[in-house]
Amino acid sequence: MKYTNFKLVRMVSVLLSAALLVSVAGADEIHGYTYGSKALRTSPVTLEQLEGIKKSLLFTQEDEKYLKLSKSVLEPQVEAVLDVWYGFVGSNDHLVYYFSDSKTQKPNADYLAKVRKRFGKWILDTAEANYDQNWLNYQYEIALRHHSTKKNKTDGVKSVPIIHFRHLVALTYPVTATLKPFLEKVGHSREEVEKMHQAWIKSVLLQTILWSYPYVKQGEF
Ligand code: HEM
Repeated sequence: MKYTNFKLVRMVSVLLSAALLVSVAGADEIHGYTYGSKALRTSPVTLEQLEGIKKSLLFTQEDEKYLKLSKSVLEPQVEAVLDVWYGFVGSNDHLVYYFSDSKTQKPNADYLAKVRKRFGKWILDTAEANYDQNWLNYQYEIALRHHSTKKNKTDGVKSVPIIHFRHLVALTYPVTATLKPFLEKVGHSREEVEKMHQAWIKSVLLQTILWSYPYVKQGEF
């Protein structure tokens, strides 16, 4: 009898731990974040072409090293960085327009919040500087999500159908300029901060170039 009780208690505790693990894993899941998913389309840009763009940008192994260094600096500050970036988009009607609800013309708070979570992951992914085929495929996915091919689909929203190309590249400047004070916060030398910053500028430019793909006439990218 005692043994049966013991078995029952153990079973319940195993089930409770499993439920806890599932809920923790669930809490971690970010809606629409599909980096590494086998279901992603293969990027039309090859790894070889990627190397070519890096060379054109003077992007070297040193930039990879300084991006990786920036990860520990930015990780505890992700929400504060997002506050600044979202503050910038939110205070510009012509930008927040791309998050607006088609019916009410007002910003869709739920859409903004869901994209913000993926944006937070993107900061850390950018700092990881892992330029393999999975990364390239997710770059293509992000490109399609800004373009009319897939905008609004991930979050099932009714909003404007495309982010116009002119703003995509323009945002490289505010995104990287506003990052510098965060890179300065943890006590790295001025030289290290400058190198992390330069690496970030190149990496964001690299990505907006890759995101341009669906906007460029076939064969002309
Ligand atoms: C340097 C330029 C930009 C960066 C780094 C950037 C970054 C990102 C990231 C990381 C995501 C989430 C991707 C994902 O689903 O995993 C995203 C989605 C989005 N971004 Fe951008 N973005 C840029 C330019 C812009 C501009 C100019 C706008 C216009 C306001 C914009 C509006 C949006 C919207 C509306 C989404 C959600 C698209 C959808 O899936 O429906 N982005 N962006």
